[in-house]
Amino acid sequence: MGVIDLIKDRRSVRDYVKGDIPYEDIIEMIDAARWAPSSGNLQNWYFIIIKNREKIEKISLAANQEFIKNSNAIIIVCSNDKIVESIYGDRGKVYSIQNTAAAIQNILLVATEKGIGTCWIGAFDEEKVKEIAKIPKDISVHAIITLGYYSNKPTPPKRKNLEDITFFEEWGNKTYKPSLYPIMDYLKEEINKIKSLKP
Ligand SMILES: Cc1cc2nc3c(=O)[nH]c(=O)nc-3n(C[C@H](O)[C@H](O)[C@H](O)COP(=O)(O)O)c2cc1C
Repeated sequence: MGVIDLIKDRRSVRDYVKGDIPYEDIIEMIDAARWAPSSGNLQNWYFIIIKNREKIEKISLAANQEFIKNSNAIIIVCSNDKIVESIYGDRGKVYSIQNTAAAIQNILLVATEKGIGTCWIGAFDEEKVKEIAKIPKDISVHAIITLGYYSNKPTPPKRKNLEDITFFEEWGNKTYKPSLYPIMDYLKEEINKIKSLKP
């Protein structure tokens, strides 16, 4: 599957069937995560794989989200914010969030390609999750990713229209100026040419 199709195919899956996700598959996801961009290439992220059922249940409680307990595995995404903040100051807080978010998206996409459902969980009691997974005080917990096989993929939730979220050159300007974007016109022509070709 091409990357655009993969991006659109990814869904937050919250209904899992029983199964064991091999460590090899999860490691491949984390391998993709470490190739995400990060501020100053600091790679200040850490990933904890959890398969233990008791721990998964505790995490479900810490997040107060019932469906988590039926997932086949979990990845806890953490970061060392201190190292980023020592270099970039207050802005480092934002960078840590962005670094881990880029890594998380890579994990979700590799899982999607493997037919494994995921859900990005942001709402949880961080202190409780730290306790369950023995995460040090000075490490932040950014997200929990549930992993699980599924029988039905949810229908895609609606997306905002492109024209409502895209501005040209300045905030609020929705007027497309073709003269400023010759490459887009060129691409359009090329795409039309390809479409008109007979198989
Ligand atoms: C930062 C962040 C936090 C989220 N937290 C939760 C969560 O706590 N529980 C949950 O069920 N889904 C959570 N989601 C998933 C969103 O609800 C979901 O991505 C959104 O509804 C769009 O659906 P889709 O992922 O299928 O495209 C979170 C997503 C993001 C990016």
